[in-house]
Amino acid sequence: MKGIILAGGAGSRLYPLSLVASKQLQPVYDKPMVYYPLTTLIESGVREFCLISTPQDLPRFRQLFGDGSAWGLSIEYREQPRPDGIAQAFLIAESFIGRDPVALILGDNIFSGADVFPGVFADFKSGATIFGYRVNDPERYGVVEFDASGKAISIEEKPRQPRSSHAVPGLYLYDNEVVAIARALKPSARGELEITDVNVEYLRRGALRVCRLSRGFAWLDAGTSSSLHDASAYVQTVERRTGVKIGCPEEAAFRRGFLSLAAFEELIGRLPKCEYRDYLTAVAGEARRPA
Ligand code: G1P
Repeated sequence: MKGIILAGGAGSRLYPLSLVASKQLQPVYDKPMVYYPLTTLIESGVREFCLISTPQDLPRFRQLFGDGSAWGLSIEYREQPRPDGIAQAFLIAESFIGRDPVALILGDNIFSGADVFPGVFADFKSGATIFGYRVNDPERYGVVEFDASGKAISIEEKPRQPRSSHAVPGLYLYDNEVVAIARALKPSARGELEITDVNVEYLRRGALRVCRLSRGFAWLDAGTSSSLHDASAYVQTVERRTGVKIGCPEEAAFRRGFLSLAAFEELIGRLPKCEYRDYLTAVAGEARRPA
């Protein structure tokens, strides 16, 4: 399974924060926002990535991740010159996707609190798998409606009158058909190739699986000043309480076996003295200790 991280858009809702750094590079407590979705995919077993951003912001992401090899990953980069919609990612990344299935994650979506994803990724065979998460304000999102038996029956993008409280988070798994489906899409009324239209097409084909995320799970989006602040506060609370970091790609790559202990320790040795380095040192130390 390949992974696309979409980190485009003008970030206008974060103005003036977004004037000099793109939304997905803003700090969420102790790391850049994009670390969180990257970590979610690494934890799910994804190793090959394509990061899509605007021509202005792409150099910054390259600076941050390079080609990914230091973390045992491979990361390619592609430009999205205009915010023409999430589903455009499949056209931009077509040569990266090749013949493989692909997971798309939005660069401002933060997931935490349950280990459902690795299993869902491992079980994925064909069609599409998306998620449903109960929220207070479904009208801000894609909304999925279920029938009495729990089967998904409709999906709408930002409906004025939502048919359910279940929003569709920005993490999607697709088989290779997604490229052809994206190619056939027409722009919506707001002029974008909508990810919801891709999901509607899979639903129409009877090939859509919607996996409901449980109550204990946290899904945060960090696209406005308030939600960015909430996300930081959440991460700080959990990290202080547990001593475990959320959204730490180096740790995830090590635990997933993408990095050997020696390579992990070498990487840590190159970091400046800081709390982040202390944390990774403790992770490596724990791994060294005999069970
Ligand atoms: C996008 C999608 C929407 C999804 C949301 C998740 O919304 O269009 O279906 O629920 O991401 O973050 P947007 O970021 O364009 O508001």
